[in-house]
Amino acid sequence: MVVSLAACSQGGAASGDGAGGGALVGVAMPTKSSERWIQDGKAVKEQLEAEGYKVDLQYAEDDIPTQVSQIENMITKGAEALIIASIDGTTLTQVLQDAADADIPVVAYDRLIRDTPNVSYYASFDNYKVGQQQANSVLNGLGLVDLEGAPIDGAPAGPFNIELFAGSPDDNNATFFWDGAQDTLKPFIEAGTLVVKSEQTDFEQAATLRWDGETAQKRMENILTSTYSDGTKVNGVLSPYDGISRGIISALTDAGYTTGDEWPIISGQDAEIDSVKAIANTGEQFATIFKDTRKLATAAVEMTVAVLNDEEPEVNNEEDYDNGEFVVPSYLLDSQIVVKDNVTEVLVESGYWTEEEIG
Ligand code: BGC
Repeated sequence: MVVSLAACSQGGAASGDGAGGGALVGVAMPTKSSERWIQDGKAVKEQLEAEGYKVDLQYAEDDIPTQVSQIENMITKGAEALIIASIDGTTLTQVLQDAADADIPVVAYDRLIRDTPNVSYYASFDNYKVGQQQANSVLNGLGLVDLEGAPIDGAPAGPFNIELFAGSPDDNNATFFWDGAQDTLKPFIEAGTLVVKSEQTDFEQAATLRWDGETAQKRMENILTSTYSDGTKVNGVLSPYDGISRGIISALTDAGYTTGDEWPIISGQDAEIDSVKAIANTGEQFATIFKDTRKLATAAVEMTVAVLNDEEPEVNNEEDYDNGEFVVPSYLLDSQIVVKDNVTEVLVESGYWTEEEIG
């Protein structure tokens, strides 16, 4: 491989046989502060290199100007394609115009890039379904439905107090997760089985800028003080991401909640190792949503390689992801709910985490 790459001209177009011919692909990731993006970046890089491409992988530590200049640099260095997981999906319009002017195709990675015609394809998960799964995991923990969302005979009548958290308002995924979750919770709220005691039911109230755990911790502390100082307890918390769940857990611990009967049911996303431990060992988190970043990397790399070879990539959704300019052709993967009972089956048997890592 190395020998044949060396023989190819630098920056030349990818050859039709699937070998990258040493062409450069720029990969822009949002931040290293969350494990999943580290795994995403690693998987995309390894898979592109295995196809014979060179990779410029950059992380922007959630700083928008940094991400924009990283992408500018990739264009200047002669990248032939870009794979981008945006920080704020609305801030790349100008830099992607520059990419288009240089005929560089762009694959939006996991997060839709908005307000631009200059994105070729989108690789992600079924994000609305992720939201449904998050809500179903809370409902399941409260004994109201099974993990597929089917009602359970003889389920308790409640009422259960729940609180709602959403992701970053500048991330297109956050509203998809929220909508999926709210549509799932709504009948239970309307029936009075669930009560959002703080009355903070709007996305804007629930949103957590940059998915930041400390921001979520502060909001949970405020809710506990303003709404639960009368001695009532929160029974469930909808959380859209493991880092947010851990902030919520800290707020609860600081407020004197202990694991056991009074500990609320908390959802999550990403199967980050600390949260998997909290599910498998301490019970502080009830569930997470597993999105296999290795498979997402494969989907994005396959799309990129196809575009570079003037082939049509496989897509399975041409309806749901309107970026404000057009409906971006998408390939969406499936996600899975992880609870204590299936940690081994879903995460260990798939090789995502080892038994030792989980502890
Ligand atoms: C991703 C989630 C992730 C969140 C925070 C979202 O765009 O889809 O998997 O939890 O960003 O990083």
